[in-house]
Amino acid sequence: MTVLVTGGTGYIGSHTCIELIGAGYEVVIMDNLSNSTAQVLDAIGQITGKRPAFWEADCCDAQAVESVFAAHPDIRAVIHFAASKSVNESQAKPLQYYRNNLLSLIRILEAMQRHSAHCLVFSSSCTVYGESASQPVNEQTPLQPPTSPYGATKQICEQIIADSVKAGSGLRASILRYFNPIGAHASGLIGESPLDTPQNLVPLLCRAAAGKSGRLQVFGNDYDTPDGSCIRDYIHVSDLGQAHLAALTRLQSGKAESATEIFNIGTGKGFSVLELIRTFEAVNGVKVPYDIASRRPGDIARIWADTRLAQEKLGWKAHKSIEDCLQSAWLWQTHCTQKH
Ligand code: UD1
Repeated sequence: MTVLVTGGTGYIGSHTCIELIGAGYEVVIMDNLSNSTAQVLDAIGQITGKRPAFWEADCCDAQAVESVFAAHPDIRAVIHFAASKSVNESQAKPLQYYRNNLLSLIRILEAMQRHSAHCLVFSSSCTVYGESASQPVNEQTPLQPPTSPYGATKQICEQIIADSVKAGSGLRASILRYFNPIGAHASGLIGESPLDTPQNLVPLLCRAAAGKSGRLQVFGNDYDTPDGSCIRDYIHVSDLGQAHLAALTRLQSGKAESATEIFNIGTGKGFSVLELIRTFEAVNGVKVPYDIASRRPGDIARIWADTRLAQEKLGWKAHKSIEDCLQSAWLWQTHCTQKH
């Protein structure tokens, strides 16, 4: 069974490819390397013993997408990661975000239809829930108006998929709403390595601990949470990769109860920024130099997942602890530091 993984050299994509190859899938990666490098392919090869087929191409380019499907007529499923993912950048460059995230999905759906590839797993985000009054959020929790163009693209993409499924072209989709992916593969060979300065908490925390950047800025300690810092549901990226495998397996088995299914993919536990720093220091034996800074515009105080649906329907749950996550993140940081 051949699966096309768009954005497969990226952070979540590469960890998912390892799970797919391990389960016996033939993997074809399409990635424009806008936020990753082709070296990841060697690392995937080293870890799994199999280097996936790779096309350096942009999913917004209809001809390029067509070429990939034409070259691999056995593609029956797509896991679509390729997208821009920075909340901040999306506020500065909304058109780039709408164009890239919407157009790439549309091109992929069009090609899937032409080539009778009927199974889609889509990367969505818990950002679609916005600031919900009660926690944890489940898949029925009403969505809030998006707080950033990035969040808006995820809501619109979910709608595009639901409408395409309803149109009856045979498409079946699994939409995964990720919480906060962190950590790195246990081998220390792949991890999060954005080409630009990272903006997410854990890569910044690792860099501050390694003395590679200034002190970590904790964005706010005056939220209505037990220690005043924001609470998130941090999930190990390899657990997240396994969730994609479970979603794909369910789509292919025909067991899905509706043609579009939506799942929260998190751990069900929330940790505050300050708790995360303390746990990181304890498990890795290093200090994280940090300051309390003002709140970051657009941040919500707290969110964590109700994961019961994924457990029940996908037979999946996160296995790795917060300690595993933070140890692997630090291992990856130290490997990166040796390499660069
Ligand atoms: C958000 C989305 C998430 C999406 C991600 C894409 C929500 C709830 N989550 O993650 O679904 O996939 O963007 O990038 O909308 N922090 C600091 N200092 C820093 C960086 C972060 O204190 O230097 C804090 C933030 O205030 C936040 C937490 O760390 O409370 C996590 O931040 P980050 O890693 O950027 O992820 P989210 O913004 O939660």
